[in-house]
Parts: sequence; structure tokens; C-alpha cells
Amino acid sequence: MEQIIKFGIIGTGAIAGQHAAAIAASDTAELIAVCSSSEDRAKSAGNKFKVAAYDDLDKFLETPELDAVCICTASGHHMEAAIKAAQYKKHILVEKPIEINLERADKMIQACQQNGVILGVVFQNRFNEGYHQLKQAVQEGKLGKLLMGNAYIKWFRNEDYYKSSDWKGTLKGDGGGALINQGIHTIDLLLDIMGEVDDVYGQVKTAMHTIEGEDLASALINFKNGAMGNITAGTSLYPGYPERLEVYGTHGSVILEAGKIVAWNIQGEENRLENPHVEKASGAADPMAIGHYLHQLQIEDMVSAIRENGEPLITGEVAKQSLALIKGIYRSSEEGKNMAININ
Ligand SMILES: NC(=O)c1ccc[n+]([C@@H]2O[C@H](COP(=O)([O-])OP(=O)(O)OC[C@H]3O[C@@H](n4cnc5c(N)ncnc54)[C@H](O)[C@@H]3O)[C@@H](O)[C@H]2O)c1
Repeated sequence: MEQIIKFGIIGTGAIAGQHAAAIAASDTAELIAVCSSSEDRAKSAGNKFKVAAYDDLDKFLETPELDAVCICTASGHHMEAAIKAAQYKKHILVEKPIEINLERADKMIQACQQNGVILGVVFQNRFNEGYHQLKQAVQEGKLGKLLMGNAYIKWFRNEDYYKSSDWKGTLKGDGGGALINQGIHTIDLLLDIMGEVDDVYGQVKTAMHTIEGEDLASALINFKNGAMGNITAGTSLYPGYPERLEVYGTHGSVILEAGKIVAWNIQGEENRLENPHVEKASGAADPMAIGHYLHQLQIEDMVSAIRENGEPLITGEVAKQSLALIKGIYRSSEEGKNMAININ
């Protein structure tokens, strides 16, 4: 019988519930413990998920049966937990963004390499069936030479959302706002399809919330393959619309909305409008409307990587791409000029 991979969760806020549900739904994984810096929150999560609860990270990581941890803390606190977990030789699945800057992301990647543990980063929309179909069509050359790729994340978050956690929308805890927290999911897909970025021109602003990060953003991209792209993102765009990924090539175009194919127009193929089964729902207006099915597929991908000593679909290096582009947009906005994106 194949080994059941035993997981623990660090950070017991909103997304931790999706991880617990995803692990519970998977035949290959089991949740055995949770850890929070607050004793009350640890206990309440432990009771809810019926597992051991710790408010001391070292004691939690000393658990010998623990194979892997899901890091679900505030984005700007991923690194500390990851480095410690790596030192205890635990494999790591960390929530997006990998961290709030590339230096901290590199330290995590290095710690995992040095300790021989696997690092995966959650971008659950990569596991969406509609997205798979788009990617396969691009890989098979069905769209021809790529001309343009657009990511539109016109979402809405009210003030209560930002008040619900002390880190959301802060530079230290979130690293910014609508791009690095919400838009990054679709930006990751855009980069996975369009490839590396040459340079970017971006503008961001905080238009309606009392936060440090941006709630409006717009960027123009030149990809290394010669294609162009743009990103429009916000958390101030009431009521919040399903995010769109648009890909245009010399032979046709495909458009996804919240993971669903809404346009499939490829020359020589019949136009189709497919609604593949995905337990998707957009986080356009409610961050927890996403369900746990795609997280389950990501947990199972992590389990396979651990069992086979291979790589998960989204490694630390892959996750750095979207972070680097977003940081480039922030710098471009500050300096008022195009920014080259070089991370390798
Ligand atoms: N994949 C997705 O769709 C998705 C959705 C929501 C959030 N997320 C990501 O998950 C992470 C957590 O988001 P959330 O919405 O659950 O936040 P949250 O505020 O609900 O929970 C964060 C948890 O981290 C803990 N925490 C905060 N600062 C800490 C510190 N310094 N040390 C240890 N623990 C600390 C808090 O106590 C809390 O338990 C973020 O990185 C976020 O970007 C991903």
C-alpha cells in the first residue's frame, strides 16, 4: 500500500479551512496537527478538525509522524515558518504568494534545497480543467504564434475584508494589495501560457480603501516571445466580476472566465463553448467562495512529488515569476518608467 502523507497546517485563519477540507477529501493525505501562534486559535482549529493543536512551532515540528506542512500564515510571514519547517525536514506546501519579495522567496527556496525537502506553492487554478484545455491547445500550437495575453481581475473587497485580519492590504504583511494578493492567481496563469516577460509598464493606486497596498492596477507587458499583454486588477471594482484570462494567437483565441471556457475560436476547429466540470467559483466578491476541490488536486500533486521524490507542479522558482512581475509593476509605478524583468 502506498504511504499516506501526513500533513500539518501552520496558520489557522480562513484558507486553513480549505486546506483541511482538501486533505480530508484526499485518499492520499491525512491531517494530523495544526499550529497557530495563538493558543486559542490553535485549540479552536484543533477541535474543529479533530487533530492535535500546538501554539509552539518547534513542538509542532518535532512531531515525528509529520511528513509535510501547509503554510497558511500571512503572506509576509511565510518565510520564517518555511525555513523552520525545512530545518525539521518537513516538506512544504506554501500558500500564494510565495512571499512578499524575491529575497525572502530565495531564502525559502535555499532552505528547502539545503535540507532536501520539497517546496510547492499553491496556485490552485493551475489544476482547473478549463485551464488545462487552454494550455494544451497552446502547447500543440493550435493558437499559432501568440500575439496577446490579458489578465483581468476586476474584483471587490469591502473595508470589513481588510479589517478582518491585521495584515491584509499592508506592505509588511501582504506586500501590497490587489495584484500580490488577489490578481496573482490569474497573473500566474498568464505567465504560464505566455512565457517570460521582457519588460512592463504599470500604474497602481489606492483609490477607495484605507490600506497601504493598491486597490487599482493596470500594466502593459512585452513578453520575450514578442507578444503583448495587459493586466487590469482591482479590489475596488464593485460588485466584483469573474476573473478573465484571454489568449490571442495568429490562428485563434481562447477566453476563460473564472476557469470556465467562454470563448474557443480557433481557425479550422468548430467554435465551442465548454463548461468542463470544475468545482470552481470565483473569489470575485468573496475570497472563500472558491471551494476546496482545486486545493485537493494541488495536495495530491504534492503527495505525488513527495512519494516519487520529484517536483510539484508549482515549485518555488515557478512561483517567483508572478512575484517578480508584480514587484516590477510596483517599481514601474513608483518610477514612472518601463521595468525590465530579470529574475534568473
Ligand atoms: N489560494 C487561495 O485562493 C487563497 C485564498 C485566501 C488566502 N490565501 C493565502 O493564504 C494565506 C493566509 O490567508 P488567510 O486569508 O487565511 O488569512 P487569515 O488572516 O485568515 O489567517 C492568517 C493566519 O496566519 C496567522 N498569522 C498572522 N501573522 C502571523 C505570524 N507573524 N506568525 C504566525 N502566524 C501568523 C494568523 O493568526 C492567522 O491564523 C495568505 O498568504 C493568503 O495570500 C490563499
